[in-house]
Amino acid sequence: MRYYPVYIAISMNFDKAQLQYFTKKLMEWHRVDNDRSLPWKEEQDPYRIWLSEIILQQTRAEQGLPYYERFTDNYPNITALANAKDEEVFRLWQGLGYYNRCKNMLFTARYIRDELGGVFPDRYEDILALKGVGAYTAAAIASFAYGLPHAVVDGNVYRVLSRFFGVDTPIDTTTGKKEFAALAEELLHKKDSASYNQAIMDLGATVCKPAAPDCASCYLSTKCVAFNNALVADLPVKSKKLKVKERYFHYILFTHQGSVWVEKRTGSDIWENLHQPYLIEAKEPLTLSQLKKSASLISLPKEVLSSMVYEGSLSQRLTHRIIKTYYYKCELDKQDLPILTKGKWVDNKALKRVAFPKSIVSFLEKKSYF
Ligand code: ADE
Repeated sequence: MRYYPVYIAISMNFDKAQLQYFTKKLMEWHRVDNDRSLPWKEEQDPYRIWLSEIILQQTRAEQGLPYYERFTDNYPNITALANAKDEEVFRLWQGLGYYNRCKNMLFTARYIRDELGGVFPDRYEDILALKGVGAYTAAAIASFAYGLPHAVVDGNVYRVLSRFFGVDTPIDTTTGKKEFAALAEELLHKKDSASYNQAIMDLGATVCKPAAPDCASCYLSTKCVAFNNALVADLPVKSKKLKVKERYFHYILFTHQGSVWVEKRTGSDIWENLHQPYLIEAKEPLTLSQLKKSASLISLPKEVLSSMVYEGSLSQRLTHRIIKTYYYKCELDKQDLPILTKGKWVDNKALKRVAFPKSIVSFLEKKSYF
């Protein structure tokens, strides 16, 4: 049995012509039509390239641009940055966030000054060993500054490759990461890694965008698996879906001769300061008889409980939650019940002026309370 290096095993799954087409067309687009102009492009100085890549780690290029210019104006070389006062550098970083990046950047500048004689390392492994430099940044610096054959792999690259080759391996798994890294190395234009890396970064940022990609103008669409199979919106795939928790809100509309009892939500929960009818939240949906036996209602007079009726249910989807709302109605013969504290009675006609969450508004409209 022969064992192939991972990248050969993977590339065997793809048509060689498809692999070559990708690199050829990407480079062609970059040469002819990539008009994204950024000051660190064409830059050869490893210090400036490193600086730009650190700034761009968690920041969009457009946002990072003025910072890059300020830093290179103030500190034209690595020794100038290494000699700067901490407070001064942190002040210049203000607004970029993720201050660990700034801390590591200063540490690295001083390390290069003190340990490497002020000379930026020129081997991939040594660049990768610098504090604050991961695989992506190391590949970017190694290719842009020294033309070394290392491919960048990040969210943009996952998106471009998964779409073009129709790869649905989840990008947030070990297998997925290995597969995409191997594919990226395979596709790299070894003799012009700098242009190739800049091209794939820019294609991901300006054409093969997460939402509303510009397939109509894409140089690669003819052979793009996702484009030709209407899968653009489905790729890349992530295994971990956003965990959505369900909550179960049982609302009881206590009414009395055309008015409804409502209270204002307090505390740091959802819908703070909005109003609601009497609420019983439970860990699961409750039936009418379970509800009547709940701690909040069990002590109510029998005639009140027996007048309670189920009115309907609605769901409201929030980012991390689904709120399932169940509505009950209970007509009282007077505006007085021991459990109704801290709220107010609102006439049906005035109900429209009360701020409610969307699901309650929908319910009240549906049942013609407004
Ligand atoms: N994001 C990270 N590095 C970049 C670069 N060199 N150009 C554009 N966007 C980037």
